[in-house]
Amino acid sequence: MSPLLEARGLTRRFAGLVAVNDVSFTLNSGEILGFIGPNGAGKTTLISLLSGTLAPTSGEIWFDAHRIDRMAAFRRARLGIGRTFQIMKPFPGLSALDNVAVGALFGRGAGQSKLKLARESARECLEFVGMGKHADHYAEDLGGPDRKRLELAKVLAMQPRVLLCDEVMAGLNLVEIDEVIRVIRKVRDTGISIIVIEHVIKAIRDLSDRIMVLHHGEKIADGTPGAVLGDSRVIEAYLGKKRS
Ligand SMILES: Nc1ncnc2c1ncn2[C@@H]1O[C@H](COP(=O)(O)OP(=O)(O)OP(=O)(O)O)[C@@H](O)[C@H]1O
Ligand SMILES: [Mg+2]
Repeated sequence: MSPLLEARGLTRRFAGLVAVNDVSFTLNSGEILGFIGPNGAGKTTLISLLSGTLAPTSGEIWFDAHRIDRMAAFRRARLGIGRTFQIMKPFPGLSALDNVAVGALFGRGAGQSKLKLARESARECLEFVGMGKHADHYAEDLGGPDRKRLELAKVLAMQPRVLLCDEVMAGLNLVEIDEVIRVIRKVRDTGISIIVIEHVIKAIRDLSDRIMVLHHGEKIADGTPGAVLGDSRVIEAYLGKKRS
């Protein structure tokens, strides 16, 4: 597998706090890479650096031979970097269908898509994530689990090559989590490479080819699920140090 997305020494400071500290990693083509780490570890900040909603303090990001770390977020989206948001903000006053159509209009097909075509593709994406019956509902009337699925449908309509998922399973029950796992596998089967941030360890273990662990902004592990989840530094980061 060849790297599709690569971070080199990425750092992001917020005043005195180093939220992401000299992080390097690669995402290979066709891979699902899990990001885990305790609350505040820097996972969302890293996704924001990759998608362009935050600029790095230093470091480089490469995507398919393009250096993109100074590129505007909308340009990265057009190149094929799509993300979901941990804090969901659907467009109020628009139906679920039109929320997703916005993705189709401004994603990789931007410029060519007409509203009618965008709505057709939005309908397919809603069906894909199991939200077909909610197409005409206002986004703000949807419950938490459906808003999570709407986030996925919105980003899929952008036809991403890399999908960055920030806690799309938070707040879902076990049955809903299994459904989302199935959707993410189906997405990968269409050739999209994926980064999944999740606190649900079962989901991360089931989905990921590889897992990277952040702690206080630093990468502390990167490897197969078996090796990483059994690593004593990772267990310590989650559970704290054993008292002797
Ligand atoms: N815009 C910001 N301004 C100042 N500090 C920020 C900002 N965004 C994030 N931080 C801080 O950076 C650190 C990393 O936050 P981040 O949201 O990336 O963590 P996370 O790993 O996604 O956590 P969680 O699992 O709770 O979602 C935290 O200490 C957070 O308070
Ligand atoms: Mg987060």
